[in-house]
Amino acid sequence: MNDAPIISVEGLQKHFVLKAANPFTGRGAVHLHAVDGVTLDIRPGEAVGLVGESGCGKSTLARVLCRLLDSSGGRMEIDGKDVSDLAASKFAKSELRSDIQMVFQDPTESLNPLFNVFDLIADPLRQLMPQKSRDALREKVEAAAASVNLPLEFLTRFPHQLSGGQKARVGIARAMAVNPRLLVLDEPTSALDVSVQATVLQLLDNLRRDKGVALLFVSHDLNVVRLLCSRIVVMYLGKVVESGPTEALFHTPHHPYTQALLSAIPTLKEGARVERIKLDGDPQSPIGTTGHKCRLAGRCPVERARCTQGEPELVDDENVRQVRCYFPLEDQRNASGP
Ligand SMILES: Nc1ncnc2c1ncn2[C@@H]1O[C@H](COP(=O)(O)OP(=O)(O)O)[C@@H](O)[C@H]1O
Ligand SMILES: [Mg+2]
Repeated sequence: MNDAPIISVEGLQKHFVLKAANPFTGRGAVHLHAVDGVTLDIRPGEAVGLVGESGCGKSTLARVLCRLLDSSGGRMEIDGKDVSDLAASKFAKSELRSDIQMVFQDPTESLNPLFNVFDLIADPLRQLMPQKSRDALREKVEAAAASVNLPLEFLTRFPHQLSGGQKARVGIARAMAVNPRLLVLDEPTSALDVSVQATVLQLLDNLRRDKGVALLFVSHDLNVVRLLCSRIVVMYLGKVVESGPTEALFHTPHHPYTQALLSAIPTLKEGARVERIKLDGDPQSPIGTTGHKCRLAGRCPVERARCTQGEPELVDDENVRQVRCYFPLEDQRNASGP
């Protein structure tokens, strides 16, 4: 079986220019470092959760991975092909486009209200495979609808005639229609009721098992990610601060930021006293120079002098877990059990 990564990025960056440089002096530019050196592989059939608080760069990373946005630096390979310098506009027309598909956060906003369900699902197929005959197109659309358990009579309906859960399924069917190898889902269930959320999660898990599609599931809800994903990547201010197998990371979070995130989940450890770890202070600004100190400095409960003297590297623990902290595992007040 081919287990080579579908997508592999190293030192990936996305900086937004908030203010352009003075054309005469070349100085004065203001950059926001939304994604600031992310290294990540996703392999076939894997479900990876990407978590972190609002504004840490999850959506920007998701869009750069789907090449909907150009990166500002770093290396990126899709299917072993270097696409680091391939502009988003060129990528949209390349044959690699169908490998990676994005499902957006709010289906109400991302589905064109003027299209019926058939045309919504057919749209990416028409763009990527314009040579398809009408019958072949219909066959693909119907198969995509079936893969998300959407009855065929829904194909003639419009978005306003659908429930939230049905719209979410149309969003997934649209992405699945071109047979992607990786679905990037940006908070796909955050607009849904809890019960509907569960059916959509089940559906995604079935798609992964049955069709072998890998998932990158972006969420700020750790409980949701835990249900679906076997590996978790934690982001803070544009960087990965920790990653590892879901259960290991939940059981023994190494990074103080992950510890704080997990301690905020009320029902995490039944019967155990979970002490809430509060991060005081304000996050550092993503604007301007970064990299001269740990990003959590100023908020970190285990901070020491070294943390403000340079930024820790992401340290690999036998290729299983990674952590970016000088003093990992320092705060184990909450670790219980074996
Ligand atoms: N188009 C943009 N222009 C400027 N700044 C942006 C843009 N998109 C996102 N940002 C900024 O990038 C950072 C990361 O945002 P985002 O990726 O949306 O985070 P998340 O999805 O984790 O909430 C935030 O500081 C946000 O304000
Ligand atoms: Mg977001």
